[in-house]
Amino acid sequence: MSEATLSGPVDKEKRTWLIASCAMGGAGAVAVAVPFVQTFTPSERAKAAGAAVEVDISNLKPGEKLTVEWRGKPVWVVRRTPEQVAALKKNDTQLADPQSARKPDELTPVYARNEGRSIKPEILVVVGICSHLGCSPSDKFQPGAQPSLPDDWNGGFLCPCHGSTFDLAGRVFKNKPAPDNLEVPQHMYLSDTRLIIGEDKKA
Ligand code: FES
Repeated sequence: MSEATLSGPVDKEKRTWLIASCAMGGAGAVAVAVPFVQTFTPSERAKAAGAAVEVDISNLKPGEKLTVEWRGKPVWVVRRTPEQVAALKKNDTQLADPQSARKPDELTPVYARNEGRSIKPEILVVVGICSHLGCSPSDKFQPGAQPSLPDDWNGGFLCPCHGSTFDLAGRVFKNKPAPDNLEVPQHMYLSDTRLIIGEDKKA
């Protein structure tokens, strides 16, 4: 198992998805403070093969997101505010798959088949890769009217490539190029402040 923390130098070669996301995301980068995460691994080969990643979320404040790398993909951990949790239900009629019924074995583990797509209502864990052509969506946590988003926006993510939008549970909105919700990876909690991504069975 590898370990993730909230600080440290950047391995540029292993962060190509992050660089691509910033380049495409533009203004999305200002939406929230994003603690930068470095992932320590026993070996890059083990990580590529799918080693689970342990994440410390003790410094993650309500409304913030951190990103960890798992299997070469960005995984987002968002601590939603009570207001953001309450707003999720407002999106249901506008979503393509509000109950996460599509490809459940691939996209949504059993314990995340709920409105928030999460084990704990406030903590969202999703793979930050758009289900259309694989861009990494930008944070658009601020509710309300803004460029490229509807006036009744409740907060979520905007894919800069072709305009797909996702709510703060990673659920895709209707009539967008992206066909499916963002993937919820296998994960489980070791404690209130530590979780494992890529594993969901007790040893
Ligand atoms: S890759 Fe996200 S909308 Fe096309």
